[in-house]
Amino acid sequence: MEAAIIGLGRMGANMAMRLIKGGVAVHVYNRTYDKALSLEKKGAKAYEKIFELVGALTAPRTVIVMLPAGGPVQEHVKILSQLLDKGDTIIEGGNSFYKDDISHFEVLKQKGIHYLDAGISGGIWGLENGYCTMVGGEETAFKNAEPLFKFLAPENGYMYCGPPGSGHFVKMVHNGIEYAMMQAYAEGFNVLKSSPYATDLDLEKISNLWNQGSVIRSWLLELLERAFKEDPDLESLNSVVADSGEGRWTVQQAVDTGVPVPVIASALFERFSSQNNSVFANRVLASLRKAFGGHIVE
Ligand SMILES: NC(=O)c1ccc[n+]([C@@H]2O[C@H](COP(=O)([O-])OP(=O)(O)OC[C@H]3O[C@@H](n4cnc5c(N)ncnc54)[C@H](OP(=O)(O)O)[C@@H]3O)[C@@H](O)[C@H]2O)c1
Repeated sequence: MEAAIIGLGRMGANMAMRLIKGGVAVHVYNRTYDKALSLEKKGAKAYEKIFELVGALTAPRTVIVMLPAGGPVQEHVKILSQLLDKGDTIIEGGNSFYKDDISHFEVLKQKGIHYLDAGISGGIWGLENGYCTMVGGEETAFKNAEPLFKFLAPENGYMYCGPPGSGHFVKMVHNGIEYAMMQAYAEGFNVLKSSPYATDLDLEKISNLWNQGSVIRSWLLELLERAFKEDPDLESLNSVVADSGEGRWTVQQAVDTGVPVPVIASALFERFSSQNNSVFANRVLASLRKAFGGHIVE
């Protein structure tokens, strides 16, 4: 069995390694060729040009795209659409917006090229633990690519979700939930840290304790325990939290369908605040307090 991967960042490189370990012949391309070459030392076959990679594959070909959503994915799906033939398959494994997947699917369908949108979760730990994978597209195309998903996922860790876009739709909501869960831990630990008991409380030990059978035990909490172990006050980090698409899309989707998502929305807005997007709003507040009550402001 063989597969190609385009994009060897934190996800693509480890996915390539997991497939190699599973006995898959893996062909790789990356914009920065050095990353492809370093994977060649671990058993992959590296190519400097995408057309060389596609030319080396046996039909029907399967190419996994692991690039940032938006422009890079659009560009590479277009390039691949010109190089692949009828019966070949593109698996978009990044975090694309599900409506983009539907457009890609429609365009590629006219050429007989299959397109699967695969929402892949597992981060840098996926190499070791496997990647939880949510797949949308035509079911026959999914069946053909299923052995690859099996190699990538942990046991029972992949699923055919439904028509084009549904894989990334499910992943989008997964990430929205992730935002909210992370926010809840962040707020809870902040209350502990600001409490009268703060100097007595060992946050690493509390994280560990809560993972021993408590209702809020989780893998995120295990990661937090490790983080507190390395840096008890997390002083090596600044307090800016990026958002990368799925949280916004989940909230936008909820607004479009009139579904209340106050917790996910609040988690998203907290990230915006962390990015210093509240500075002017807070100046407005301070200025109004001063204006109506003569309150002292800084
Ligand atoms: N990291 C995670 O935890 C995670 C989890 C699930 C899904 N995802 C999704 O998986 C995809 C890949 O994520 P990642 O974390 O592996 O990203 P990453 O570590 O930032 O790597 C990005 C990769 O894309 C390439 N790239 C970026 N812009 C490009 C462009 N304009 N043209 C060609 N290549 C370009 C980079 O090539 P160079 O080496 O040349 O820079 C690199 O190989 C994204 O859609 C991400 O949202 C990530």
